[in-house]
Amino acid sequence: MGMAEASSEGSTKAGRTTGGASAIDTSTAHPARVYDYWLGGKDNFAADREAGEQALLAYPQLAEAVQSNRAFLARAVRYLTGEAAIRQFLDIGTGIPAANNTHQVAQHEAPDSRIVYVDNDPIVLAHARALLKSTPQGACDYIEADLRSPEAILAEAARTLDFGKPVALMLLAVLQFIADNEDPYALVSRLMAALPSGSYLVVSHPTDDFNPNRQGESIQRYNERVADQATLRGHDETERFFAGLNIVAPGVVAVAEWRPDSDLDTARPSSMWCGVARKP
Ligand SMILES: C[S@@+](CC[C@H](N)C(=O)[O-])C[C@H]1O[C@@H](n2cnc3c(N)ncnc32)[C@H](O)[C@@H]1O
Repeated sequence: MGMAEASSEGSTKAGRTTGGASAIDTSTAHPARVYDYWLGGKDNFAADREAGEQALLAYPQLAEAVQSNRAFLARAVRYLTGEAAIRQFLDIGTGIPAANNTHQVAQHEAPDSRIVYVDNDPIVLAHARALLKSTPQGACDYIEADLRSPEAILAEAARTLDFGKPVALMLLAVLQFIADNEDPYALVSRLMAALPSGSYLVVSHPTDDFNPNRQGESIQRYNERVADQATLRGHDETERFFAGLNIVAPGVVAVAEWRPDSDLDTARPSSMWCGVARKP
């Protein structure tokens, strides 16, 4: 896939887009737009809404559960900018901009934070302007690329991130799109290998483990309709992504249970496992 980039350095540069973005296909459901539908966004089409509704029929808690994933994203980024003093983020599988995107949370806490967003769906590139509103002290960049090409992502990200300093690699609700036979674990290892000691890995991963009824049916309905098939994974399969890293307490848990701010967080449903770990 050709890469298209857009970037914003502080407040001095407007967003720029180069390269040819691939066409947006609205006739088939796409994961970024189905997710946008579940989150109550407006950037989805009839095919996306149909796939989203079909999945919800078999798993009605799913729409609220994806909100728990967004809340986890915000808590993890606040932990990273605060306790972990991280100032660089590589967020792969960004999604259509929603409330509290990584740069907004990070730069609210630490205005000098530098963020590189990566997604392979051209609809996300079309919304990149919203992802590039950096603080003057920090920087934001957007790369249209595929997680299956880690070295290409790293080469492009080096324009904005200093790989001599710690980076938080954010892989939230994206690894399910890498099938077992494409070795998602090796892709994560290749990305982490390029980051120095003190870097972090943040993962959230969809599962059927918390689905109270009709397990398997929701993902089947979804996969019958979307362009990219998703593979659900369990606790131990999610934990394997952190092999060789020091996992931060409380370990791999439901997204609603990772360092909750209040009992309200924990009371919400989860449809994903998550964890945060530090590279020794
Ligand atoms: C479910 S959304 C998650 C958005 C956000 N990370 C979050 O957790 O709220 C998944 C995103 O990953 C993107 N994606 C799927 N497969 C990908 C791949 N192989 N490489 C890069 N991005 C991918 C989709 O286009 C979509 O925007």
